[in-house]
Amino acid sequence: MKIHFVGAGPGDPELITVKGARLLAEADLVVYAGSLVNPALLEGLLARLVDSNKINLEEINEIMLDALEKGNRVVRLHSGDPALYGAILEQMRPLEEAGVEVEVVPGVSSLFAVAAALKTQLTLKGVSESLIVTRPAGNTLEEDQIREMSKFGTTMAIFLGTDKIKETMRTLEVPAKTPVAVVYHASWPDEQVILGTVEDIAEKVEKAEIAKSALILVGNVISRSGFGRSHLYRSR
Ligand SMILES: C[S@@+](CC[C@H](N)C(=O)[O-])C[C@H]1O[C@@H](n2cnc3c(N)ncnc32)[C@H](O)[C@@H]1O
Repeated sequence: MKIHFVGAGPGDPELITVKGARLLAEADLVVYAGSLVNPALLEGLLARLVDSNKINLEEINEIMLDALEKGNRVVRLHSGDPALYGAILEQMRPLEEAGVEVEVVPGVSSLFAVAAALKTQLTLKGVSESLIVTRPAGNTLEEDQIREMSKFGTTMAIFLGTDKIKETMRTLEVPAKTPVAVVYHASWPDEQVILGTVEDIAEKVEKAEIAKSALILVGNVISRSGFGRSHLYRSR
């Protein structure tokens, strides 16, 4: 018996993997990240549901271990893909030390749902060949490198930072007219896309009263223009 760490995808219940959906359907216990797992994904499940936001790490592990010992099938459901800001290692370590086998099932990160909402690419020939995934300093991070990394001029995805968007935009060392998108609840029915630039996005986001559950994307890929053709589709 294993504990499966499953990526729930960004919100749309159809954006979980086939394997993730099967594990959920078969589970006896699902511990889910309540703030960003769409409740629609949990509807109709036979499993006991526990919202991880309401308990601490020790309690989560105790509940999962206890269930496993009773022969229950356990799923730890994370939003998006568990490898991005999922804090899965600190949960796995004590489980592995207790002799429990764990398996990770990837998911569609909100980053990709954001790109889909914007109908753009994150890497685009002649515009940006690289992608920086980061977060601003806050409760769990003392110092960030957003200023230094912005100098590369590549696409930048900023997680967990909508409440600090004003400060973050001031930090960026890119032209003031660089496009910025803030996507709230990407792929959820109430998805919102706010488009702007480094100089005006903070005001727009404040007006829309969005302070969480959104991703900030910075870069010229948002404008969907100025790109060159890839080798792949050139005529020979
Ligand atoms: C703890 S992180 C988890 C990220 C997740 N592992 C992923 O791959 O999307 C939570 C942050 O992810 C972003 N996020 C998660 N789901 C989102 C969604 N559907 N739309 C926009 N941003 C989302 C937000 O920046 C949020 O503050």
